[in-house]
Amino acid sequence: MDHFEIRDGIMHVEDVSLPAIAEAVGTPVYVYSRATLERHAQVFADALAGLGSGDRAPLLAFAVKANPNLAVLNVLQRQGYGADVVSGGEMRRALAAGMAPDKIVFSGVGKTAAELGEALDADIGQFNLESEEEGVELSAIAAARGLEARCALRVNPDVDAGTHDKISTGKADNKFGVPIGKAPAIFARLSALPGLRLRGVALHIGSQLFELDPLERAFAKLGKLIAELRDSGHEITHADLGGGLGVPYKADDAPPSPAEYGEMVARATKGWDVNLVFEPGRVIAGNAGVLLTRVIRVKRGIADPFIVVDAAMNDLARPAMYGAWHDFAAVVPGGEHMRANIVGPICETGDTFAMGREIESVGPGDLAVFRTAGAYGATMASSYNSRGFVAEVLVDGARSATVADRIPADAIMGAERVPDWLD
Ligand code: LLP
Repeated sequence: MDHFEIRDGIMHVEDVSLPAIAEAVGTPVYVYSRATLERHAQVFADALAGLGSGDRAPLLAFAVKANPNLAVLNVLQRQGYGADVVSGGEMRRALAAGMAPDKIVFSGVGKTAAELGEALDADIGQFNLESEEEGVELSAIAAARGLEARCALRVNPDVDAGTHDKISTGKADNKFGVPIGKAPAIFARLSALPGLRLRGVALHIGSQLFELDPLERAFAKLGKLIAELRDSGHEITHADLGGGLGVPYKADDAPPSPAEYGEMVARATKGWDVNLVFEPGRVIAGNAGVLLTRVIRVKRGIADPFIVVDAAMNDLARPAMYGAWHDFAAVVPGGEHMRANIVGPICETGDTFAMGREIESVGPGDLAVFRTAGAYGATMASSYNSRGFVAEVLVDGARSATVADRIPADAIMGAERVPDWLD
């Protein structure tokens, strides 16, 4: 359920009409609904509430990469969420949004020495070590500061998550984590190092998952590893199960519900006796945002017409990058149905949102939205073709605010210079 609906013939986000936002902020613009974000955060938390309470309550660490906007993070922080971060920049955003340092988990294969040091100084809750080499480096940095880093070892369970290759992370040849078969030996070596408190294990096998079975198989492998580590005398208090739950992009998409996911997790982790950590991203933010765009012109095609909109692959990269589907809907619906190709203005064929799509007809000057754009939308924007960076708006009931200014192409050009020695 979301809060994007037609009222009096016009699409609204909560109580604010999209034409009013287009008028005030221009297009293209991402528009997020606070009520939808909160509802998704609550539904996900409710689905996992049975897994532990008090000291053992699961930590819900929103995957900041999905939507790093400060206002979005602030909304989620108020819902009790922490953050899964993958760079110093994301960590500073989580802190700036008010997330408690002990609710921050730091993942990623390429944390630099500077980032490790910064995260130690911020006293974050957990480093998810992605390699033995990273653990050795963090040990040295922490020991030199007289600090102890709380860590989990991320393992690669060699499970095919059954999703798009580019967002699959748990197969043996993916770059993430250490091979699960080597984990006991690596865990033993790292836990002997100073400056590290290696207290758990972590995994994340991929994103936009439509099947629970690969996750359950991965969790079963993790359960065996926990038992093996304990048999070797290690104290295991934390298990991070990553994110990955899929969301519907099309009307007939039926991903597992958070409740079904929660039941599977309860079954798979029975008797683990650990603090569970989750890193949901898309399931919280995906359907809480749309990309609002205006039709520039409609161009005759050989078969179907081309609807050229003012949003492009630099604003929403997913269709060009993964062939992803985003529903396209008129802000003032009710026109005849038509078949069309929906494209942006960028000069490459990849700047295509849809080919041969059945839509309600739109014409030059009309507003439309790409739905399910709240996750991996604005955050993946670029300034390709010198188009500047897209703006973002948050709606809360009848209130709305620009939560990220449009960064015009000229501002980006202003950060460039021609050296005076060029002759
Ligand atoms: N934890 C880790 C370690 C991750 O790498 C990711 C996503 C998540 C959590 C959150 O996964 P989610 O719950 O959102 O599925 N740009 C791609 C998605 C890349 C996901 C990368 N990792 C897309 O637009 O589909």
